[in-house]
Amino acid sequence: ASDTAPTDTVQGGPVNIIMIGMAGSGKTTLMQRINAHLHERKQSPYVVNLDPAVSKLPFQANIDIRDTVDYKQVMSEYNLGPNGGILTSLNLFTTKLDQVMQIIEKRAASTKYFLYDTPGQIEIFTWSASGAIISNTLAATYPTVVVYVVDTPRTASPATFMSNMMYACSILYKTQLPFLLAFNKTDVVSHEFAVNWMSDFEAFQQALSRQEECFMNSLMQSMSLVLDEFYSHLRVCGVSAMTGQGMDHFFEQIQDAVREYHEEF
Ligand code: GTP
Repeated sequence: ASDTAPTDTVQGGPVNIIMIGMAGSGKTTLMQRINAHLHERKQSPYVVNLDPAVSKLPFQANIDIRDTVDYKQVMSEYNLGPNGGILTSLNLFTTKLDQVMQIIEKRAASTKYFLYDTPGQIEIFTWSASGAIISNTLAATYPTVVVYVVDTPRTASPATFMSNMMYACSILYKTQLPFLLAFNKTDVVSHEFAVNWMSDFEAFQQALSRQEECFMNSLMQSMSLVLDEFYSHLRVCGVSAMTGQGMDHFFEQIQDAVREYHEEF
């Protein structure tokens, strides 16, 4: 598709895109890039910010958790630390999810993409009851795709790559939703090495064997066998939230994930 072609990729109504990723992987910057990409193509998305602790958003959120809960006030009121404050804020927001869904359903006739940015501390969304309630509710309403954002330059060593993929794998099995692995920051390091490691088991084994010999290597070799199965259920793309490269492929992969949703749900 050309850069100016409309991103009219998804058939059959609105799509929820939930951005998940380690702190600093570039979720917020990628949200901003997707937002700008869709605006350029006259497909303005509806944006929901679920991170109560973000100080400044580089895009306009249509629904912002910070309008409902003040996480610093929650911290002092319930005598909590920062993570407890963020988690409790998400819980409080989730008690009003029915109202949020009413707004979203009203917008669904005119909006194709609903984007959800999640808290920087990944486990607050992925391992909490409210995170599960939010993703299950979204998935029960419209096709929902989880985008797992990876910091490509910081995942280029076999050990870090393995850990990140294990984490992604655990989220896939926890959410049970169509999943897209978005290797971000490809302007710094291409994600080619990752595609190679994921498609060629021996290439990854070789990369592992180049590392210093230690007990972890045999553990990692066993784990990489497990991951081989995970990779076969996965969609992958490389993007740069900074430059915008890879956005067309990103939306092709979203379309593919939506097809899976229609087949399975
Ligand atoms: P949290 O809010 O902690 O969850 O971080 P986040 O995942 O939302 O990451 P954020 O978007 O704040 O980006 C983290 C850093 O990575 C920032 O300095 C960004 O400028 C940088 N960054 C994000 N995407 C890219 C990219 O595609 N290329 C490069 N070079 N830098 C990027």
